Amino acid sequence: MLSADLLIHNIGQLVTCASPEGPKRRDSMRDVGIVENRAIAVIDGKFAAVGTEEVVLAEYSSKHHLNAEGKAVVPGFVDPHTHIVYAGDRLNEFELKIKGAAYLEILAAGGGIISTVKNTRAASEDELVELGRERLDKMLACGTTTAEIKTGYGLDLESELKMLRVIERLDREHAIDIVPTFLAAHTIPPEFKGDSDGYVDLICREMLPAAWQWYSGTGFAEKGKPFFCDVFTEQNAFDRGQTEKILDAARSLGFGLKAHVDQFTNLGGSRLAIEKGAASIDHLDAISEEEIELLAASDTVGIVIPTENFSGGKTQFADARKMIDAGCVLAVSTDYNPGSAPSPSMAMAMAIACRYQKLLPSEALNAATINAAYAIGLGRTHGSIEVGKRADLLICESQDYRQLAYEFGGNTVTMVIKAGKVVSGDTLGTNRA
Ligand code: NIG
Ligand code: FE
Repeated sequence: MLSADLLIHNIGQLVTCASPEGPKRRDSMRDVGIVENRAIAVIDGKFAAVGTEEVVLAEYSSKHHLNAEGKAVVPGFVDPHTHIVYAGDRLNEFELKIKGAAYLEILAAGGGIISTVKNTRAASEDELVELGRERLDKMLACGTTTAEIKTGYGLDLESELKMLRVIERLDREHAIDIVPTFLAAHTIPPEFKGDSDGYVDLICREMLPAAWQWYSGTGFAEKGKPFFCDVFTEQNAFDRGQTEKILDAARSLGFGLKAHVDQFTNLGGSRLAIEKGAASIDHLDAISEEEIELLAASDTVGIVIPTENFSGGKTQFADARKMIDAGCVLAVSTDYNPGSAPSPSMAMAMAIACRYQKLLPSEALNAATINAAYAIGLGRTHGSIEVGKRADLLICESQDYRQLAYEFGGNTVTMVIKAGKVVSGDTLGTNRA
């Protein structure tokens, strides 16, 4: 008999999202890999066996048995795009937007991202860790077990490095597995108003090299997790030429690439980032048909952010349906941030994607797990229930995983298991046979 750290049995519907060949596209997006009558054995935080109950329970013993009580079990969500390290709030802006102000107008008037930059610069590292931890706790309770976190509210070397240190501490101290992204190119800081090229020079000459040096000495590098550089390609942020300079400088240092593109305006950023080999391009509301074709022919993941549209009260959404049908690798994220998308819930992102972007629940779940893991360079180790991968899974409230996207506004995740440990929700008893 082999000894397991945890055995999970009585799983009603095991939804693996398994995809050993790589990320999912087209028809495979509708296949979430449902198997019945399965049990799971976990050893050292990884899936050691996923097989029929009979076989797994005959081969493995454990002091810790978890009875899933016939519920659906799915992989932990992977949120591939968040901005959760910040201080202050944007509640005034929420009201301004209700009264008709546009996101880009608020940004141009020195509010929006800049107001969060002021608060974040003034906050201590400890304060930011505490605020980040509270947000990660909410994400975890909603089922997110892996997340990308961006800087971008520092916008000077010292404050951006402070944000990076906060992200590293959160990775060490919190159950959620984190991938860091450097987003000094989030917008033009007040000191460089009218001189965006000057800020781009500073990013390329000083900030990116310093960030890379920081990364080289961290646990992220040691564990082989990637470090991404992101750019907000948009009016009042960075144009196509500036985006290219920053992505080129980042790539030559070793960064993986990401870009916020086509959120409001098509500046040619999608084509550019795909051609540079970006791991993901994010938002995609204004992407052209031609760029969708390019995306489909590439390994770049398209990340759509339905929570951003919902939060902005928009009625138009990125055409995720067309992207899947064209053969793109599609993922969804929350974009959890104080301005455009204050939501910790991947299930909420799925719920909106199903209704407004016409994804089936199966497509939304693959976009929120395995494809999202590929978007942050972790597709081989995270995002699905497969032997050898991180034992990150959710026990659902329902026997049918589709409830995750069907119900909204609450939380239909009953229990969260990260690396084989129960980290949130304990209404089901461990050790209960
Ligand atoms: O993805 N668009 C730029 N960045 C974020 C918003 C950040 C903010 O408003 O604070 C986004 O929407
Ligand atoms: Fe964002």
